[in-house]
Amino acid sequence: MAAKHISWAEPFKIKMVEPLFMTTRAHREKALEAAGSNTFLLRSEDVYIDLLTDSGTSAMSDRQWAGLMLGDEAYAGSRNFYHLEEAIHRYYGYKHVIPTHQGRGAENLISKILIKPGDVVPGNMYFTTTKLHQELAGGMFTDIIVDEAHDPNSGFTFKGNVDLSKLQGVINTYGAERIPYVSIATTVNMAGGQPISLANLQALREFTSKHGIRIIHDMTRVAENAYMIQQLEEGQGNKSIAAIVKEICSLTDGATMSAKKDALVNIGGFLATNEWDVFEEARNLVVIYEGLHTYGGLAGRDMEAMAIGIEESVQDAHIRARVGQVFYLGHKLLDMGIPIVKPVGTHGVFLDAKAFLPHLRQTAFPAQALAAELYIDSGVRAMERGIVSAGRDQKTGEHCFPELELVRLTIPRRVYTQAHMDVVAESVQRVFEQRHSVTGLRMTYEPKYLRFFQARFEKLPAA
Ligand code: F0G
Repeated sequence: MAAKHISWAEPFKIKMVEPLFMTTRAHREKALEAAGSNTFLLRSEDVYIDLLTDSGTSAMSDRQWAGLMLGDEAYAGSRNFYHLEEAIHRYYGYKHVIPTHQGRGAENLISKILIKPGDVVPGNMYFTTTKLHQELAGGMFTDIIVDEAHDPNSGFTFKGNVDLSKLQGVINTYGAERIPYVSIATTVNMAGGQPISLANLQALREFTSKHGIRIIHDMTRVAENAYMIQQLEEGQGNKSIAAIVKEICSLTDGATMSAKKDALVNIGGFLATNEWDVFEEARNLVVIYEGLHTYGGLAGRDMEAMAIGIEESVQDAHIRARVGQVFYLGHKLLDMGIPIVKPVGTHGVFLDAKAFLPHLRQTAFPAQALAAELYIDSGVRAMERGIVSAGRDQKTGEHCFPELELVRLTIPRRVYTQAHMDVVAESVQRVFEQRHSVTGLRMTYEPKYLRFFQARFEKLPAA
């Protein structure tokens, strides 16, 4: 964890501010009850420091805001689309681009195009929306990430790595022809924001090429992954973030992007591919689900902000400060003795709810209960990433029981200060001191898809 000691002072100063409001404990108790103990159902007005997600919550730069004024809102062939296309060619290197309203729009397209019923999609851990689109297209996701990724206490540096022997096992069972692609995320969100190494990706490229299998890259946090490679991978320290990002992309055949994360915009995404046939099909399908292939559900101004955000996101000084702030919070919590996923990830700090609340069984939703408790304590909003997020098994209808039962303190980019991180750490510490009095939850409403977004819960009585 060498990056801990690097100065991460922000390479910007603040030009515009938005007031925050603190609420009383009594107010928060009422608000949480109205939200069915689900932080997704809180009104943001009732939140003090919002660490629900780093998605769409970044502060844009003055250049991006200026870009909004240059929106060319033509229905077809907007100038901003060509700027976006240029930025993607320059910084990511993919040949063909289809804008989408956000990441899951791109996931829908690629899943529909490449997956046939009965197919199997191996990946370095699941992501909620990605997996669901694979399933809706008739496919089955299967996890081929290294075992270390499922252990919050393993200090392994590249927990996003693929275990090639697991991939070989999937090929032995199903045959390469039933694997339309391997789904690779940089970084791995559900493992705690953990990176894949360049060496592992290179080995995967070699392996999949031999079997004629594509790699589709979920590049939502690719710059953050590149930073970890630059800091921690043998022989990569002298490369720029921009160079590593491009190298990662060059090892894959196509990508889905939620530009709401790395690319520093409040809305937007795209599908990219190096294959003409896939592009043609996507260009046709996008008009059904998103809009014409030169806007994909976005305003011209959104595409302009994205083009500028992509360029800003691969600057070394930016990414050092971004990950530096996450590391600051993570190491502060570690110093306090709080159980978190190790090593600290790049977009947030993940509390280990199983270790935090060992008296709660997993069916009492410990991470959901912990996120609720943290909100009550200080108005800090976090997100459950455990059994609720994992959903139910497609075949048996039973809960999936993930090894990792986590609460994610996700840090928006360029939004909060070091002092805010201190407030968060102090609140986590207070909840930790009172952890024995935290009770579990019972689910009272469960939506069919992606239940974590809208599920409702009730507190169980104290044991
Ligand atoms: N892939 C990853 C790794 C993600 O983290 C997300 C979104 C998506 C795909 C889908 O993109 O939201 O633009 O449709 N993650 C958000 C989060 C929701 O809070 O982690 P989207």
